[in-house]
Amino acid sequence: MGKGNSMKRTKRRIPRRAAICLVVVAAVVAAVGISACAPKAHPGVPTPSASSPSYVPEANQYGVIEMKDWADQYPNQYATYLENNENAWPEGKVNKLELYPEMITLGKGYGYAKFFTEAGGHSYAMYTVTHNGRVTENTKAQCLACKTPNVHYQVAAEGNDAWKANMYEQVTAYTDGTGDIAQAEGISCANCHENNDPSQLAILRADWKRALGPNADKASLSGEVCGQCHCDYSMDAETGTPTSPYDDLTTMDPDHALQWYDEHNYVDWTYASTGAKMLAVRHSEFEYNYGAGGNHMTRLGYDCADCHMGTQTDANGEAYTSHNWTDPLKNQELIDNNCSTCHKDLKAEVKAVQDEVWTRTSTVGKRCASYVQNLEKAVAAGSLSDDQLSRAQYIQRAAAYYWNSAFAENSKGAHNPDLYRHVLDQAETLLDEGDQILGVTSSADAFVSEYNPDVNTVTFGSDHYYNDQPAETATQDYGTAAAAKYGNQ
Ligand code: HEC
Ligand code: HEC
Ligand code: HEC
Ligand code: HEC
Repeated sequence: MGKGNSMKRTKRRIPRRAAICLVVVAAVVAAVGISACAPKAHPGVPTPSASSPSYVPEANQYGVIEMKDWADQYPNQYATYLENNENAWPEGKVNKLELYPEMITLGKGYGYAKFFTEAGGHSYAMYTVTHNGRVTENTKAQCLACKTPNVHYQVAAEGNDAWKANMYEQVTAYTDGTGDIAQAEGISCANCHENNDPSQLAILRADWKRALGPNADKASLSGEVCGQCHCDYSMDAETGTPTSPYDDLTTMDPDHALQWYDEHNYVDWTYASTGAKMLAVRHSEFEYNYGAGGNHMTRLGYDCADCHMGTQTDANGEAYTSHNWTDPLKNQELIDNNCSTCHKDLKAEVKAVQDEVWTRTSTVGKRCASYVQNLEKAVAAGSLSDDQLSRAQYIQRAAAYYWNSAFAENSKGAHNPDLYRHVLDQAETLLDEGDQILGVTSSADAFVSEYNPDVNTVTFGSDHYYNDQPAETATQDYGTAAAAKYGNQ
């Protein structure tokens, strides 16, 4: 934020940041060896500015102006968007089911327990959604909500039924019937900017506007555009709409989300062997950065873009924001010019935090899975009263929910170590109560892994693929072929 002069809502936060900076640094300086309070701007790097377009290109059949049509007027942003192709998928991506077998037990009966890898770059979104082991021929267009602006324009024009349309039919339509994924508009300028003017940030998703509620302007628009997709949500059973479990930015945290799901009777699936009504949590990055007052860095005025989209300068000396969404720890220039003014050794700090909270996330997940295995035995033995059973089932739902909130957040603890600690404490308190009911102690050591290398592998697991790509086990070549094909060039 604060980088684009023309970005409407971002400007007024600068004075607030300076004021908070003094307070926060005074409070934490001793604890972390943070050296000084520095302004966020990169020293010596000019501020990106952008002018509105001199002409507006023609929209596609859904009303979306596609990114390739902005390439001539915004060449730097477009060129760096294409660099996302370097973050290929599935090439080099970890099979999380192998690393974290607790997911197989805790997610049993739901898609994430069938197929779960690390994510790829933004330019892969349409590719990954059509080529993975969770989708089937019946998958609905809901899944496109985080992949393309087209579906939001369709819903606006045709109503909520568009969410329930068949995903493959929709995607085929987006490719003009060719099935060539490279022709379908993926995550695009119109997801984060005004369709007619990419120099202005704008929120596209209607449900996200509802979720931010009356206090939306307490966070920056720059972060809120990311939150459209990097947040938790579930599907409304009646309308099929991807729906946020929040009503207000200032109370966006996992405790409120669970309460919201409980009050609205949301159930993602029923756990067959125990009868528990389960919830699946998705990539809750927004909540961990901005929710309920925010973390240290967003309180200092930093946004997702400050850490994940560095500022660059082109051959004419013009500054712009890189649209290659990268890991800040791999952006040495950013660390040297900016982060190092306060963090003596950011990489070591992040590693220390991740070693602690991410390891604990997996331990608590295994303990929760062990509790589920104990409950399974109690249910099979018929040893619980009705009251005990219903409380024990709720404990499975809620404890797994809290573990999943941390597990699905992609920073492995870096974004908000305190919130990770809190949700893991919540899970453990529930599991202590559950152990009392069952009369058996759950623990990570007692968890019996159900990982099966023949089943829980990185296969595409589906006959539904495009461009006659093989629907078989992923290989390096497969990923490279996808990278070459993609890019809207
Ligand atoms: C995922 C969200 C997202 C997408 C997709 C996206 N942008 Fe941006 N864009 C941003 C953010 C965030 C900023 C930085 C705003 C800030 O915080 O200062 C930005 C800044 C800009 C700016 C202002 C100048 C600058 O470089 O800071 C322009 C112009 C721009 N984007 C054009 C585009 C174009 C053209 C596309 C499509 C090819 C695009 N953007 C796609 C989020 C996005
Ligand atoms: C329209 C939905 C959408 C928006 C808006 C969006 N993202 Fe993403 N983002 C995704 C999806 C989907 C993926 C995973 C892509 C894949 O694997 O197919 C992703 C992946 C990423 C990754 C790479 C993850 C990895 O493990 O390599 C980063 C970093 C990221 N996003 C940051 C941001 C930031 C910062 C913003 C705001 C400027 C933003 N995103 C806005 C949907 C979105
Ligand atoms: C203060 C800097 C900072 C801010 C603000 C920030 N992140 Fe991150 N983010 C990080 C760090 C550090 C990591 C961990 C990188 C690693 O593990 O190597 C990370 C990891 C991620 C990842 C995992 C992918 C990857 O490249 O490792 C995603 C996705 C992501 N952030 C998205 C977001 C979104 C979306 C926002 C805003 C809602 C956001 N981040 C705000 C610093 C930040
Ligand atoms: C103005 C000083 C300052 C600058 C510059 C700064 N940080 Fe921070 N950062 C802090 C403080 C203070 C904390 C809180 C430390 C704590 O309590 O452990 C923090 C915490 C963090 C955390 C832990 C998550 C959180 O917010 O609690 C991450 C990740 C992080 N910083 C990343 C970055 C990155 C990446 C950059 C450069 C883009 C950066 N920081 C630049 C002061 C700064």
